[in-house]
Amino acid sequence: MSIPQDIADAIVDPKAYANGKKVDDAFAFLRREMPFAQAQPQGFDPFWVVTKHADILEVERQNDLFHNGDRATVVTPIEIDKKVRELMGGPHLVRSLVQMDNPDHMNYRKLTQAWFMPQNLKKLEPRIREIAKVFIDRMADMGGTCDFARDVAFLFPLHVIMEVLGVPESDEPRMLKLTQELFGSADPELNRRGEAANDFETGLAALQETVGEFMAYFNDMTEDRRAHPREDLASVIANGRINGEALDHFAAMSYYIIAATAGHDTTSNTTAGGLWALAENPDQFARLKADPSLIPSYLEESIRWVTPVKHFMRSATADAVVHGTKVAKGDWMMLSYPSGNRDEDVFADPFTFKVDRAPNKHVSFGYGAHVCLGQHLGRMEMRILWEELLPRLQSVELNGEPKLSEANFVCGPKSVPIRYRMN
Ligand code: HEM
Repeated sequence: MSIPQDIADAIVDPKAYANGKKVDDAFAFLRREMPFAQAQPQGFDPFWVVTKHADILEVERQNDLFHNGDRATVVTPIEIDKKVRELMGGPHLVRSLVQMDNPDHMNYRKLTQAWFMPQNLKKLEPRIREIAKVFIDRMADMGGTCDFARDVAFLFPLHVIMEVLGVPESDEPRMLKLTQELFGSADPELNRRGEAANDFETGLAALQETVGEFMAYFNDMTEDRRAHPREDLASVIANGRINGEALDHFAAMSYYIIAATAGHDTTSNTTAGGLWALAENPDQFARLKADPSLIPSYLEESIRWVTPVKHFMRSATADAVVHGTKVAKGDWMMLSYPSGNRDEDVFADPFTFKVDRAPNKHVSFGYGAHVCLGQHLGRMEMRILWEELLPRLQSVELNGEPKLSEANFVCGPKSVPIRYRMN
């Protein structure tokens, strides 16, 4: 049985994600009525939609049976997929960890894995705290109103990852813009052309320009770090070796791009959505203020609540069974993280924001071999920000209607106007 057309169209529609409720309702229907079924939105190849928490883990655990790299990793219309294959000789515009399978995936991931582990990140904590304080002081100087998304949440994680990568501060606005063009390609306020892309060719051409600009930037950086290695992540990538050889150039450029994009937009969305939730739930804000030991569980709840990565795609390398249903070799499937995170079988009152939710086994970071490499960094940044901000934030409320971005892959709040008092 196929998923009804209106539901199939909604789960890929950037406007439905900008609406929020529309997409929540679509996935709630699927979890209840058709937890694992095929969808064929208009203009797309059919794909299975994995809506249940347990099934997402089950598919992700079997990373040799369900591949990332054989088909597009993000749900892509047929016409764009065709064009990308013509241009690139395969289904991807970049070749980062997300587009790889073993053995390459393991080899490329090993290069930076140690760098991303909590033990190594600890040394960054004092500097990240300094950066957080700068943004919080600025917020205090804004006189009691700001757009928390634009003025704080987008800029703080951007600054952290760019410093970690070794990108100079003067280039941060350009990196933010390129990231928003990439993830916000369907949003007229964020994409490269600054208008709705009416045809797929224009949209794809703009995306290619964005990727090209990123690659040119990081090419220069690689040469610099090869000649003058530093302690930064860029030097780890530039000088990394796999089986004694320097990285494939395209893969090295893609490595920077994923760090320079996923490395802040996800965290920014979560931070913006986390404060939005507090502004809307004064009782939860009061609980958190009264008991700062709840910061870690508040943080996890905000990651569940926002789920900034809306999906990744997998494809079957052989005939297989998921949720008791046969899937054929080559079948494409969507892992819906927001749906897994609202699964009524795993989360009590999934549509309620609870700062003390425990346990909270959300799947926002994915699972298995591809589980988010930056999860410890993302968590650490947000923990530090809340540890510094919450004691100073006396009150917070919405000061206008927050807005979600129009996108179906990495997205979340793009505007969160607030009124607040700080000491
Ligand atoms: C709240 C913050 C973040 C969220 C929710 C998030 C989410 C995700 C998700 C869902 C995946 C795919 C996992 C899978 O396929 O199982 C992923 C992969 C990845 N993330 Fe994150 N991410 C966050 C922050 C970061 C940060 C700060 C970085 C730092 C550079 C980062 C770098 C990566 C990389 C490199 C991968 C690819 C891993 C692989 O394929 O092996 N992420 N992330």
